[in-house]
Amino acid sequence: MINSRLFFKLSFLILFSIPLLLTAEPTVDVGKTVFKNYCASCHAKDMKSKLTGPALGGVEERWADYPRQDLYDWIRNSQKMIQAGHPKAVELWNEWKPTVMTAWPNLTDEEIESVMLYIDAQANKVPETLSVASGGGDVDSTENGFGNWIYWVLLGILGFLALILTRIVGNLNHIATVKEGGFAERKTLVETLTSKSVVSFLIFAAVILGGYLTVTKAVNLGRQQAYAPEQPIKFSHETHAGLHKIDCQYCHDGARRSKHAVIPATNTCMNCHKAIKVGSEYGTAELTKIYASIGYDPSTDKYIEDYESLSQDEVESIYTKWIGDNIKAEKGIDSLDQTGLEMVQEQWTDLVSSLTNEQKKKVQGPIEWERIHNLPDHVYFNHSQHVTVGKVECEACHGKVEEMAVVEQHAPLSMGWCINCHRQTEVQFEGNEYYDSYENYHEQLANGDRDKVTVEDIGGLECQKCHY
Ligand code: HEC
Ligand code: HEC
Ligand code: HEC
Ligand code: HEC
Ligand code: HEC
Ligand code: HEC
Repeated sequence: MINSRLFFKLSFLILFSIPLLLTAEPTVDVGKTVFKNYCASCHAKDMKSKLTGPALGGVEERWADYPRQDLYDWIRNSQKMIQAGHPKAVELWNEWKPTVMTAWPNLTDEEIESVMLYIDAQANKVPETLSVASGGGDVDSTENGFGNWIYWVLLGILGFLALILTRIVGNLNHIATVKEGGFAERKTLVETLTSKSVVSFLIFAAVILGGYLTVTKAVNLGRQQAYAPEQPIKFSHETHAGLHKIDCQYCHDGARRSKHAVIPATNTCMNCHKAIKVGSEYGTAELTKIYASIGYDPSTDKYIEDYESLSQDEVESIYTKWIGDNIKAEKGIDSLDQTGLEMVQEQWTDLVSSLTNEQKKKVQGPIEWERIHNLPDHVYFNHSQHVTVGKVECEACHGKVEEMAVVEQHAPLSMGWCINCHRQTEVQFEGNEYYDSYENYHEQLANGDRDKVTVEDIGGLECQKCHY
């Protein structure tokens, strides 16, 4: 007689071990639970604002100079580390004392890593409405769709096989029992389907599916194609780079010579907006934000001395005067009427909320532009290498920015996207001294053994070129 019990026991053992293996890995979901239970009472869930304890967003970078173990130790018992004189711990204590962080000696490494994943996910959270990593890049759209598709087919086949095996074993058992002279009832399909074994199988399948989806979601979280956040000032590339044809590198001069393209400092804006003080679209509403940030008084055309130390009221009187004077001039009146006063107040309130946030409490100081493009920390990307050496146009990676009133992320910024271009793009050897060292390629090109050299040929697919 075939031992059907043993058969099921074995198959469950195998099925069991899969979810177990999955849960040993740190996951965002585990992190969320741990965070909610142990950390949320003192650390804000958005990871960006301070509560009883500091905002945890970016905490891994802040601890990057120390071994990972130090971060574990901190979370398990911060006071012990402070007493031992660990420099980072002491620094934190000096800022936050006398508030003591609770010790969590029982948290495992996996649980802490899970919390780190959750912190990262929350800190980089993208509004729900975004199409996260969908469509767009040629490589990316297939990457995700294909994975899911395969998964469902495999699941279907597995389920079907399980069903057939159950039927076969059942039938064989039936025959065996009958042969031995016993009496056995043959199970119907419905009985088989609702039997304990099949129901348990379905539950495990659901667990595995859940694990899979969590992992893919975690991988995609950082990606944000088409991300187009609202900016503190309604700065339009369409107006500047499109209509007025200002060169990209006039403002992003880092692109040519350094790793970062760099968002221009407010001083760069002043080159033109010392003269253009009232805009045709928003009047004083947007341009005054530039002045209030840097401390320029457009009424007197002078920079304000010791601007940083002025109180909010003093700042308000300078810029509401400017806004009010313009409304008076526009309407041809000597003093502001009720609607005029309301307009001034409305512009001032909007200015304050644009130039301040949780961390930056006063309007003075740099404009905090929302960052749009953001590669994960483990990726190395260098603008000058692409723009100056590779002679790649901004548009190839950023799309038609000069047509965007609000910048949006054009490319997926996925690994497939980088690799794909390195496979396809020809290196421009002619007249580029940077490539002089590749003599053999030059020879091969000259004598016709090779018709092109791609980025791949010069090592553009090697992991360590892009990963720290
Ligand atoms: C009782 C309040 C409290 C709880 C609960 C708490 N923390 Fe803290 N945490 C703090 C305070 C306060 C600090 C600042 C340092 C200090 O005063 O000791 C801090 C600092 C930290 C830091 C260092 C931050 C940095 O910028 O380097 C990390 C990491 C951290 N906490 C993680 C956690 C985790 C993970 C949990 C949950 C397992 C947790 N904390 C639970 C209050 C708390
Ligand atoms: C007059 C100055 C100016 C010019 C000219 C300009 N930019 Fe910008 N750019 C900015 C400012 C300010 C921001 C930040 C605000 C924003 O995102 O709109 C920015 C943001 C960007 C960003 C998004 C940065 C991020 O956060 O990831 C990209 C990409 C970009 N510019 C590309 C270009 C390209 C390409 C051109 C030329 C077609 C160009 N810019 C011309 C000032 C300028
Ligand atoms: C090279 C010159 C130049 C630079 C540099 C420049 N701008 Fe402009 N800006 C213009 C011109 C020209 C206009 C169109 C004025 C108009 O017709 O309203 C404009 C319009 C604007 C407007 C719309 C005003 C309105 O009400 O219509 C805003 C906002 C603005 N700029 C912000 C900025 C910011 C922020 C910076 C710095 C990052 C900057 N500009 C840098 C030339 C420049
Ligand atoms: C080969 C692709 C590529 C080209 C070409 C390129 N960029 Fe970028 N750009 C990126 C990537 C990738 C990021 C994100 C970098 C990061 O997160 O570290 C980025 C980020 C930026 C940013 C945000 C600030 C920063 O430096 O991280 C600006 C502004 C920008 N690019 C402007 C430009 C301009 C202007 C040009 C043309 C002169 C240009 N880029 C050419 C891929 C490119
Ligand atoms: C539009 C095409 C394009 C895209 C997209 C692109 N690259 Fe490149 N990349 C090039 C070209 C062309 C070169 C050759 C320039 C050179 O020799 O340094 C290059 C060179 C490089 C190099 C130097 C390779 C070497 O062997 O020296 C690195 C590193 C690199 N890219 C990283 C990236 C990363 C990371 C991304 C994605 C975030 C990316 N690139 C996206 C076109 C691209
Ligand atoms: C041309 C640049 C480039 C090269 C070469 C490259 N990577 Fe990546 N890699 C990236 C970028 C960009 C990301 C970030 C993708 C994202 O955030 O979605 C990434 C992400 C990853 C990740 C994290 C998982 C993920 O999808 O986010 C792993 C693991 C990885 N790369 C491994 C490798 C290995 C192994 C190699 C060598 C075979 C390699 N990479 C070569 C650019 C590159």
